[in-house]
Amino acid sequence: MTASANDIRQQFIDFFVDKHGHANVPSSPVVPHDDPTLLFANAGMNQFKPYFLGTEQPPTPPRAANTQKCIRAGGKHNDLDDVGKDTYHHTFFEMLGNWSFGDYFKEEAIDWAWELLTVVWGLDPERLHATYFEGDESEGLEPDLEAKKLWEKYLPPERIHPGNKKDNFWEMGDTGPCGPCSELHYDGKPDKSGGPLVNQDDPDVIEIWNLVFIQFNRMTSGELENLPAKHVDTGMGFERIVRVLQSKDSNYDTDVFAPIFTAIQNVTAARAYVPGGSGDHLTDPINVAYRVIADHIRTLAFALTDGAHCGNEGRDYVLRSILRRAVRYGRQTLGVNEPFFYKLVPAVVDTMGGAFPELKSNPDAVAEEIRDEEESFSKTLDRGIVLFDEAAERGGKAIAAQDAFQLHDTYGFPISLTQLMAEERGMSVDVAGFEQLMEEAREKSRGTGGGADAKASLIEQVQKGLDAGWYAGTNFTGYETSECPPQNNRLHLFVKQGEAYGSAPQAKPGDEVAVVLQMTPFYAEQGGQVGDTGSMIVRNSTSATGGEMVRVQVTDCIKVGEVHVHLGKVSAGTLENATGDVSVALAVDLERRKAIEANHTVTHVMNRALRDHVNEDAAQRGSLVDDEKTRFDFAHNHALTDEQLAAVEDQVNADIAANLPVFTAFAPQEQAMRIHGLRAVFGEKYPPTVRIVSIGADPGAMLEQPDNAGWANVSVEFCGGTHLGATGQAGTFTIVSQESVSKGVRRVTALTGEAARQASDEGERLLQKLDALADASADALPAMVDVVIKEVEAATLPLRHKSALRLKLGELNERVKQARKAAGNQTERAVVDRAREIADSADDSLVVEEIAGADGKTLRTAMDVIRKKKPAAAMLLAASFGGKVALLASVPDEKIAAGLKAGDWIRGIRGISPIVGGGGGGRADMAQAGGKDANKLPEALEAARAFAAEYV
Ligand code: SER
Repeated sequence: MTASANDIRQQFIDFFVDKHGHANVPSSPVVPHDDPTLLFANAGMNQFKPYFLGTEQPPTPPRAANTQKCIRAGGKHNDLDDVGKDTYHHTFFEMLGNWSFGDYFKEEAIDWAWELLTVVWGLDPERLHATYFEGDESEGLEPDLEAKKLWEKYLPPERIHPGNKKDNFWEMGDTGPCGPCSELHYDGKPDKSGGPLVNQDDPDVIEIWNLVFIQFNRMTSGELENLPAKHVDTGMGFERIVRVLQSKDSNYDTDVFAPIFTAIQNVTAARAYVPGGSGDHLTDPINVAYRVIADHIRTLAFALTDGAHCGNEGRDYVLRSILRRAVRYGRQTLGVNEPFFYKLVPAVVDTMGGAFPELKSNPDAVAEEIRDEEESFSKTLDRGIVLFDEAAERGGKAIAAQDAFQLHDTYGFPISLTQLMAEERGMSVDVAGFEQLMEEAREKSRGTGGGADAKASLIEQVQKGLDAGWYAGTNFTGYETSECPPQNNRLHLFVKQGEAYGSAPQAKPGDEVAVVLQMTPFYAEQGGQVGDTGSMIVRNSTSATGGEMVRVQVTDCIKVGEVHVHLGKVSAGTLENATGDVSVALAVDLERRKAIEANHTVTHVMNRALRDHVNEDAAQRGSLVDDEKTRFDFAHNHALTDEQLAAVEDQVNADIAANLPVFTAFAPQEQAMRIHGLRAVFGEKYPPTVRIVSIGADPGAMLEQPDNAGWANVSVEFCGGTHLGATGQAGTFTIVSQESVSKGVRRVTALTGEAARQASDEGERLLQKLDALADASADALPAMVDVVIKEVEAATLPLRHKSALRLKLGELNERVKQARKAAGNQTERAVVDRAREIADSADDSLVVEEIAGADGKTLRTAMDVIRKKKPAAAMLLAASFGGKVALLASVPDEKIAAGLKAGDWIRGIRGISPIVGGGGGGRADMAQAGGKDANKLPEALEAARAFAAEYV
């Protein structure tokens, strides 16, 4: 009868504890609370590090065995990206291990591994392969011939394989205990032919056990030092050995996962998981979702049990990302709309609570945290998916950095999730651009994060003053004027100290201040329009000429209740907190104000045009008007077509050309509300007296005849903002971007005046530049197109120009593609010609040649050409291109029988690839390698000839 996973785990421990005198030490927590350098426990040996280094006395007995909870996600050892795609990677897994702390060494470790696998568990010895460390000259390390010899007791030479530093020298991290290792691999191929696939990422030929012979410490300098004693550290993938012992094709087909799959099916009502280990089974989306979700719930359940949390930093964020990945699969692939993931916790507890009783300590708290996380992500998940789809549609080959950033920032999509979703569509993500935007956002929040606190403290202080009865509100004169000559004003001063404002008797030059005035022309940020900037001159006296003259540079103006609070810095003089009136002169930065007004007025005109050309019901959902742009959000489900964009732009420009007068009037809200076609922002609370802004028609007439259907064609809104006198002052208008901000809400960003003109000029210039490329030669074209693409990406351009540019770039790209293809064909033809020449003159049994003009890819073509004429020849071909080297060897069967193996030829102990600074590897019949040192190629080819001469 097949042993269960729980039995297998116990058999391992019993074997080492009962039979070979090991202590059963419990697994350390999967969250290493005492090691800030380690995200998660990633190997069984983590907790024994001090014994290996000799910084702590080993225990008695100096040997231990256990199963260790491991997570390999996020850190140096990271398997997250493989989970779901294959049959044998997990973020959470158990590692069965036995350890010697200066006690037994290689011989016992190897003997016992063999005994457990073949005698206790009865595995077919013919399916086992061992690897040993082949040595590394650069580190001054000899091959581990001792291990090789020990394996020879059990295995024939062809099943003992040398391996390089990457595969056969195990290191805990950048520093720490390390040593050569010897791995056991299991050949699951039906005909036991898997030997050449050892360490080749083949799902049927997998590593099951790693025996590390720890004898060095990697120091911070990078050098190795000998440890005082020699140790053993073995690690066996529990899920893998269960799979092998239960004769399954996949770790996921064992009883480790079956109960979790059943729970997934029950909770999601998805169709059942289909077992299997290859082909369509692997890529079937529902199967993938099952594997990911089952893997991820184990990770979350164990990590949260051991005291980790989901959050925004470090390991917490890794866990949050894993959870969100699982939830996305649930939503998009399995179609579950409710939180479901937390419901899988009991399945993990039931399956594994025996071996890890800590799971039973508080599973409800674990489930609850997961549910909370799911609920909060669910709020944005659907909208995020829509945004992703849109981003993918406009992205071409890659999701743009801005989209990835928005997905992250607004919708909580970890970049790894966006990458995964992109991969599902055969796309990539501009991760570098994303990282840059993240960095910019961090910079920004560093700059204003404290500011937000400071603002809050200011608002509180001002509110207190208002409650204490300063006055009801500031008299705002800014609709009529941008200046206020020196006149008496009531002033209240707050000074910023650290991260808070406080009332203070005075402020000196350089101090950051908040000044509240009873009268001001400075507009205070409201209704999407930013606050004014400018200057303030205060006399610490009621006389316009007496007292000290103090200058304050105003950088923003905000509203608290009905008062305007000027934020800025004292630039000259000592500003005193006035108890009575003092003389104050004010001047708004008029140029900036005009630019803001232009953007605000066209926002109203555009709002109208959107109703005419895009969506009659398009309700305003938010806006930001500053001196650079207008950004307008409105209810609409689709991207605007090029035609709609053009129609809106044309209408706004026509209204600008018509120089329509802008009217404002105050009126009782109730009466004003009746005006036909009036735009009020839904959900906004308006005061009893409202301000009406209308363009091209006098509000007086509207109030008289509110039912006149004609008003529907006029822009009329409730608005407190400042506006142009007439639309003509906006100069010109252009839309530079559109995007979706959330489900059903679109955002357009537009420019006016000089900014709009500059954007159009830049668009024209780039279009002309592209036109000029029509005559460029095929060779020069790709580089030139790349330059323009970069310029287009960097520029702010009208969308009209952008689509025209995209069209032209598409055509040019097509030309570039054709040109590249033609060039490629030409190179390939030259390589084939050269190969033919070689084939004609070459020796029948050995060909060692460099193929001029070839690269890694065409080298294979050359080999095929030569092989046709010289089928019996052992061949080693080389190409050097751009300083790099490609090597390719093939050996026919008779020559393999004579002892020449392609893998040995290229990278064995005497192989030639190290001469050209390369690695690589391969099988007996075929091997390839890359190298970095093209200068050494002649020497390498000489060595290759000498090597082959011994056999051929
Ligand atoms: N430390 C080694 C590994 O993790 C063996 O336990 O593979």
